[in-house]
Amino acid sequence: MESTTVTTAPEAVKPERKKVILSGIQPTGVFTLGNYIGAVRNWGQMQEDYQCAYFIADLHSLTVRQEPAQLRKQTLEAFALLLACGIDPQKSLCFIQSHVPAHAELGWILDCYTQFGELSRMTQFKDKSARHADNVNAGLFTYPSLMAGDILLYQADFVPVGADQKQHLEFTRDLATRFNNLYGQTFRIPEPYIPKTGARVMSLQDPTKKMSKSDTNANGFITVLDDPKVIVNKFKRAITDSEAQVCYREGKDGINNLMSIYSAITGRTFEQIEQEFAGQGYGAFKLAVGEAVAEELRPVREEFARLMKDKGYLEATYRAGAEQATAISQRTITKVKKKVGLLAP
Ligand code: TYM
Repeated sequence: MESTTVTTAPEAVKPERKKVILSGIQPTGVFTLGNYIGAVRNWGQMQEDYQCAYFIADLHSLTVRQEPAQLRKQTLEAFALLLACGIDPQKSLCFIQSHVPAHAELGWILDCYTQFGELSRMTQFKDKSARHADNVNAGLFTYPSLMAGDILLYQADFVPVGADQKQHLEFTRDLATRFNNLYGQTFRIPEPYIPKTGARVMSLQDPTKKMSKSDTNANGFITVLDDPKVIVNKFKRAITDSEAQVCYREGKDGINNLMSIYSAITGRTFEQIEQEFAGQGYGAFKLAVGEAVAEELRPVREEFARLMKDKGYLEATYRAGAEQATAISQRTITKVKKKVGLLAP
């Protein structure tokens, strides 16, 4: 009889799984400086060390009434902006949410494991339903379960977002834990990744309010495509206080916001900034912040203009992204469907 030799594979050769990062942004307008500092800029910096997936959350945008042609245009522009902000499609998975059917599918399934009470407590729902009182639709209400689906589909370890998304991340963790407790290990529990400075960039005209592209006062926000002169002028007009002392202190909301922006862009600490502008009025400080921001955004503006001239490249890139994202997301959605009792097709 022939003898058989059993060889066992050497131990510890299994490559370690790279941690997964996932985040998304809505295509509701040109990204603001808040989106950039709080989120998108950090995404590019994570590409070397993590397996990253970034997407344009167009399904989420439908929760507020959109003009169809405008939404299509903005979605393509948002995709180009993502790349212009430093996301490299060779390193990161970049796609458009509605091109990957599993997002809506998992969103629906998770809706059925979400309680009315927990969605009612979401501050973003309360804010948006007050702002759009004529259109408090079911999608606006269940928005967090769709977002949870986005994250859980890819088994993300970390989700880099601004501070305003923290509550949605906590909800995602609760929902994933609940599902795992019911059906056994299915979802990885994700951690929010919120930057130390710049997690909440405030309006330049009302520093008690978050900087937002839906602000009716265009002087309140900077977009990443604003002309350098416009940027400097908006900073010159920024609301501050009458103290004329550049220092970070409670009650100095306007100056605190400008210092946070300057710190996030230059990497300088608040102490260093206080020293740099000691004895100088707010005029010099505002000018320096404006110029630093304009300079930081210059390559983004230039790269965006270049990419928008090459629609063929953009289309090929988002198609390839959708194909890959569809394949990855199938692993989780197939498992979930089986666990909840849906008959395989
Ligand atoms: P969105 O499109 O409102 O914002 C995109 C990112 O920008 C951050 N951000 C800010 N950061 C600091 N200061 C500000 N003023 C500021 N404004 C916005 C947001 O925190 C966010 O990180 N629900 C999400 C999109 C989404 C998503 C996801 C994110 C859908 N699915 C899954 C992560 C994972 C949203 O509306 O972001």
